[in-house]
Amino acid sequence: MEDKVIIFDTTLRDGEQVPGCQLNTIEKIEVAQALEALGVDVIEAGFPVSSPGDFRSVVEISKAISNPVICALTRAVKKDIEAAAEALQYAKNKRIHTGIGTSPFHIKYKIKTTPEEIIRRAVDAVKYAKKFVDDVEFYAEDAGRSENEYLARVIEAVIKAGATVVNIPDTTGYCLPEEYGAKIRYLKENVPNINRATISTHCHNDLGMATANTMMGVINGARQVEVTINGIGERAGNTSLEEVAMIIKSHHTLNLKTDINSKLIFSTSRLVSTLMSMPVQANKAIVGRNAFAHSSGIHQDGVLKNRENYEIIDPHEVGVKESSIILTARSGRAALNHRLEMLGFKFGKEELDDIYHRFLLLADKKKEINDEDIRILSGQVFLGEKALKLELLQVTCGKSAIPVATVGIRINGEVHTSTASGNGPIDAAFTAVRHLISKTVHLEEFLIQAITKGSDDIGKVHIQIEHEGKTYYGFSANTDIITASVEAFIDAISKIK
Ligand code: KIV
Ligand code: ZN
Repeated sequence: MEDKVIIFDTTLRDGEQVPGCQLNTIEKIEVAQALEALGVDVIEAGFPVSSPGDFRSVVEISKAISNPVICALTRAVKKDIEAAAEALQYAKNKRIHTGIGTSPFHIKYKIKTTPEEIIRRAVDAVKYAKKFVDDVEFYAEDAGRSENEYLARVIEAVIKAGATVVNIPDTTGYCLPEEYGAKIRYLKENVPNINRATISTHCHNDLGMATANTMMGVINGARQVEVTINGIGERAGNTSLEEVAMIIKSHHTLNLKTDINSKLIFSTSRLVSTLMSMPVQANKAIVGRNAFAHSSGIHQDGVLKNRENYEIIDPHEVGVKESSIILTARSGRAALNHRLEMLGFKFGKEELDDIYHRFLLLADKKKEINDEDIRILSGQVFLGEKALKLELLQVTCGKSAIPVATVGIRINGEVHTSTASGNGPIDAAFTAVRHLISKTVHLEEFLIQAITKGSDDIGKVHIQIEHEGKTYYGFSANTDIITASVEAFIDAISKIK
């Protein structure tokens, strides 16, 4: 039988402490409801004594949430505990999270007291919180840098006072995974009443070890993990919920489970990121934009043959629609063909070779080739031979220069050239084109659009011309917008019957 690991989410408390991430009460309720749907067991909703806004949020979240335990943070101070108890009055299941620093740094320099006085205050706080709620969690702040023997004495005392959960925070993110795991094991083996409480991990990511430390804590006996969505939190953040949930789900040999509905992980991640204006880093495990993106030709080929060649998690499992094959200059024919097929195109070998050749030329100029580019690339294959074709374009322009363009057009097999000036490079090139054709055309519409935002992007040009009362349309796309403009102009002219 798998052992359940309790998921304690502190996105709305430790996560929300991040500068710029503050949410209003309505937004916090939205996040809390998403966390409930996700299946978290405990929602730390705030620190009620810290501000009227935080107090109100804990009240409103308590009213809006049914299943998870709603937890409120306090210091080991009576007025904090009273505020928490009052804010939690509507919660169906409630917990007060109280605590105090236990490391030599905190005892000596922050609280400026003695180790014995810390134990006394910790015990008093737990006993006081117990007057209001049954479920009291105690945190030993900076436990990561606390002496294990002393920590064990504190933990034994608070459990005796009624603590149901004992939280062992690596507040500064300093511990090595082995060290943190050994700390949890030490408490398991040396605190006589430890079986009367659940041990909780609370790790910070200052050295990038929050998830590793949390997992070592769990492997050594912790059964609650304190986590945040996207790993947001103080400084470098907290342990991320999605990482721990997916480690437990993927590694069956751990014999552990959570109640997280992993299919909601991605949408919850994006909700939190959007509401908190905190972008998720592209390479973030599980929820980053690139977490299921393959860009090297070898990996793309491997994934297309069998997803598991390069993926340990099925993206559907975390609510991501599919793995993405990023088309770049390093992509092979297999990846290009796969994307073409997804877009509904089917090509024979020769046509594919032709598109692939164009694809590589474009990919050398542009970092990433998107679907719109692919449509254009494959569409150009169908355009076939034209009566008019741009063969040469040379422009001179710039500040204080007179714009001049030389254009060479193949007309029925023969290249004709002309040079003209104008009020800009496009005007000069269009005038040169006009010199080479026998027809009078009027430009009616001229539209340049970048497909996406980058300066390396393809420019699309749509042109509308008039000739003897009839309208003709031309289109082209190129990373060089002057070339695209002239090609679009010629495309429209070539349609005149
Ligand atoms: O990091 C920490 O020690 C905390 C406690 C208040 C639980 O966030
Ligand atoms: Zn913390």
